[in-house]
Amino acid sequence: MNIIVAGVGYVGTTTAVLLAELGCKVTGVDVNPDKIAALKNGQLPFYEPGLDQMLKKHYEAGNIAFSSDLGTVITDHDVIFICVGTPSQADGSADMRYVREVLSEIGATMESYKLIVMKSTVPIGTQVLAEQWIKEAQHQPYAFDVISNPEFLREGSAVYDAFHPDRIVIGSKSAEAATKLQVLYETLNCPVLTTTPATAEMIKYASNAFLATKISFINELARLCDALHVSITDVAAGMGYDPRIGMAFLRAGIGYGGSCFPKDVRSLLHTAAKQGMSLHLLQQAVNVNDTQYKYALHRLRDLLGTFQGKRIAVLGLSFKPETDDLREAPSLSIIPVLLTEGAVVQVHDPIASIPDGMRADKLTQHPSIEDTLLDVDAVLLCTEWNAYIQADWEKLLTVMKGSIMMDGRNALNRERLEALGYQYVGIGLGN
Ligand code: UGA
Repeated sequence: MNIIVAGVGYVGTTTAVLLAELGCKVTGVDVNPDKIAALKNGQLPFYEPGLDQMLKKHYEAGNIAFSSDLGTVITDHDVIFICVGTPSQADGSADMRYVREVLSEIGATMESYKLIVMKSTVPIGTQVLAEQWIKEAQHQPYAFDVISNPEFLREGSAVYDAFHPDRIVIGSKSAEAATKLQVLYETLNCPVLTTTPATAEMIKYASNAFLATKISFINELARLCDALHVSITDVAAGMGYDPRIGMAFLRAGIGYGGSCFPKDVRSLLHTAAKQGMSLHLLQQAVNVNDTQYKYALHRLRDLLGTFQGKRIAVLGLSFKPETDDLREAPSLSIIPVLLTEGAVVQVHDPIASIPDGMRADKLTQHPSIEDTLLDVDAVLLCTEWNAYIQADWEKLLTVMKGSIMMDGRNALNRERLEALGYQYVGIGLGN
């Protein structure tokens, strides 16, 4: 099968690699010529563990090609996967501009039947609009199907997730089109759910909204645990052994970030508002998340007395480990507060860099953890990179001025750090 993947961000590139591994010939298309040029040179324009080797293998074998012009390659391909971004707009709705542009171009350039597979996270009801947009752009009424096939992979483990999905959701009006996709995914060996397109679209939003709510639930409870001198980590473990609850996504911390949860939750709230409804629970999940980093700062401020004139190390910029993605990362909310309140901030991240817009005299990034901790009054861990979990904390304490360790991800070994002499504080650990 010859497949176009439109949009080669981390979802599109991972999808391209998966499809190549499943035996397809794939052409990755993107409107950004720099991205295409980088990929042709074997460089990923973002960090995603393991993806570069897989891409190289299939690119060199001729299974994956790249192009910045959809119109010139469409004739040779029967299937088009849409993997372009749907970022948030000011009112919380998803910006459908890129999806619409691709669909219009498909409509305008197609000269035979096409199967269009929507992987981008799109508002419920988009499949109907997608058909309309294609038809409006068509010069002749060639047949096509638009299927909703939401993506559930996580940044940082995208390759593993793509090859080991928990489930595949296919939302299609046409049984024949759904079967084509089912056959393509046959070897992935996981439950396949076939639904209407709108249901598939809702499954994606519901999944992300539920996970975001789970995180906010544990984060809000963490604040109460601090007040009651109870450990949220133990509470989460005690809850998580119940299979109806599960351990996953009950790690308290400074809140969720990234390119998905914040945007998708906002978009679902916007969809509900358009129906004249409020999703109260989900709105509160957002409110908890929006204030969670402030809670961490409040605790740290209490320990230091003030941020004014204090030197603080921030460990981790990215919204989670194993990615350089800074979108809606809690660190980017935390650092400006520290600077505004007069702190000197020394930052470290194994991959990500301070964004240009945030540069300030009292903000520096350092290549090593040791340099970052030099003379600091306190450390604030924002991202649980393995480098921090494995760090030589005994040695690192000797370069610090103070001994406060605020673990914003409850990821470090509290007993060990306390034994070494750190004044260790987590989120909801009750100390
Ligand atoms: C999320 C979903 O997990 C994927 O299933 C989905 O496909 C993806 O969004 C998407 O819609 O594209 P991702 O944003 O890559 O994936 O990252 P997650 O691992 O879900 O983490 C999201 C945020 O939640 C991170 O900031 C993480 O630190 C935070 N988190 C996660 C917690 O604070 N506590 C937890 O227990 C788990």
